[in-house]
Amino acid sequence: MSPIRKAIFPVAGLGTRFLPATKAVPKEMLTVVDRPLIQHVVDEAREAGIEHFIFVTGRNKGVIEDHFDRQLELEFTLNERGKHADLELLNRELPSAGTTSFTRQQTPLGLGHAVWCARELVGREPFALLLPDVLVQAPRGCLGQMIDAYRELGERANVVAVEEVPPDRTHMYGVVGVGERRGKAFSITGMVEKPPRGSAPSNLIITGRYILQPEIFEILQTQERGAGGEIQITDAMMRLALNLPFYGFKFEGRTFDCGSKIGFLAANVAYALAREDIRAEFRVELEKLLGEK
Ligand code: G1P
Repeated sequence: MSPIRKAIFPVAGLGTRFLPATKAVPKEMLTVVDRPLIQHVVDEAREAGIEHFIFVTGRNKGVIEDHFDRQLELEFTLNERGKHADLELLNRELPSAGTTSFTRQQTPLGLGHAVWCARELVGREPFALLLPDVLVQAPRGCLGQMIDAYRELGERANVVAVEEVPPDRTHMYGVVGVGERRGKAFSITGMVEKPPRGSAPSNLIITGRYILQPEIFEILQTQERGAGGEIQITDAMMRLALNLPFYGFKFEGRTFDCGSKIGFLAANVAYALAREDIRAEFRVELEKLLGEK
């Protein structure tokens, strides 16, 4: 069975929900504790065995590329000052030479279009897609769990991570219809992007992690605009599901929708509380703040 070697990270979004922070800084570079969102998601992909990291960027996103490059001046200074632990951290996290690719989505036509922009870089092999707005805190990363499931489901399978949300929130996401169970996964009977309130097929939403077969690119080529006037990956996946097996996978872990202010702030608290080196001190500060309310 061919492994999933490549992952796409769509990072072209404008991040208007975080203005003015995102006026000059890409939203993917906002930090959760001391790491940019995009680094958290790349780490998840790397842990899952991904070898090639494909970023679909846009104008004013150059700093993301810089983040995954060496910073020689900084390395020099850290070395001079004997800050070996910091140096080691920078080197450990650097993707190896030749394992990152960057392409641009020249016009913001939607997530489906962003994925299509990576078609030449992915080629004819199954790939992962990770949306950096979504962080999943789990002992084993969400994509790693999905790849384990994919191995059981078979070579031609497509898999999306799903989770339950309260029914009054389904209109904000892609929602799946639920079919037969297959282990931790179940076959998908339908998918709809941002269904109008009260019309969702279930309360299981697509969480921002996907394993897709390369046929999705041909479909995206002719995909018409859908919800919000954008070319939607969900609509293209629905067409792909007519010919190839499609599964929803309920992963283990807690999700943070860092595209929203509350989700982003909650992620910072949760990730800080999970960190050995700052947990105790941070908890004291948090309790003080909560006590004042
Ligand atoms: C995108 C997808 C949607 C998915 C969501 C997860 O929507 O189109 O299907 O449920 O991410 O966060 P967006 O958040 O970009 O509107």
